[in-house]
Amino acid sequence: MIHNIAHRGASAYEPENTLRAFERAIELGATMLELDVHLSQDGHPVVIHDADLSRTTDGIGRVAVLSLAQIKRFDAGLGEQVPALIEVIELARGRAQLYIELKGQDTSEPVVKTLREAAFLDQVVVGSFFPWLPQKVKFLEPAILTSVLIRGEDRQADFIAWALAVEADYVHLCWENVSPTPHKLLTPAMIAGIRQHGLGVLLWHEERPAELHELVQLDVDGICTGTPDLLSDMLQKN
Ligand code: G3P
Ligand code: CA
Repeated sequence: MIHNIAHRGASAYEPENTLRAFERAIELGATMLELDVHLSQDGHPVVIHDADLSRTTDGIGRVAVLSLAQIKRFDAGLGEQVPALIEVIELARGRAQLYIELKGQDTSEPVVKTLREAAFLDQVVVGSFFPWLPQKVKFLEPAILTSVLIRGEDRQADFIAWALAVEADYVHLCWENVSPTPHKLLTPAMIAGIRQHGLGVLLWHEERPAELHELVQLDVDGICTGTPDLLSDMLQKN
C-alpha cells in the first residue's frame, strides 16, 4: 500500500498546517497527515512550517519566544489557529496516521513525550532534514518509525548511509524541484537498492498530475501531496 500523505494537510485547498486543512485531507482520502513542528516558548510542540509567524499568520515574531496561548491569538488563515501537536493527534486518531517533520532543533524530546502521553507511538513517522533529530527520537523511543529527509542537492550523496547511521526506517526524497520530471531521477533500480538496506521510501510533495501518475507506479511507501483527492484517484486506478 502507498500512503497518501497530505502535505501540511490539504494545503492546495486550505491554509497549510491548520485543523481545517487536516480535516479536509482526511475527507479527500489522505491516509497520513504531514505536518511541521516547532517548539513554543513554554515547551509545546506547535504545528507550523516556519520558525517565524509572518508568512502563514497575521502575526509577527519567532515561535520560540512566544507561549502557545500567545501564538494562538493569531489568524493562521480563514480564522484558523496554529494548532498544538496534540490537537492534530486527536483529530487524526482512528482516521489517519501522522507524519511529523521536526523543524525546530529542540523538538525531539517534547514530541516523543506528547506521542507517549497520547498513546500514539505506533501511528506516526517522525522525520527531519537534520538526521540527528530522528536519531534522538529513535534513542528515546525505538518503537517510533523515523525518516531522514534528503534534499535534491544531496541526491548523488550516499543518503542510504546517512539514514542507516541514525537507524532510520525510511528515506524521504524531497526532489520536487530538481527537475521538471523528477520521477526520472528515481529509477526502480535505485528504489530496489534502498530497499536492500531495509529502508522504506517516501516521496516529495507532488501536485502535477503527470508526475503523480508516474510516481504511483513506483514501489514506494508513501507520496506527499497538497492534493490528496488527485492522488487518491490515481491510487485507486493503479
Ligand atoms: O516533501 C516533504 C516536505 O514536507 C519537506 O519540505 O519544506 O515542505 O517542509 P517542506
Ligand atoms: Ca514538511
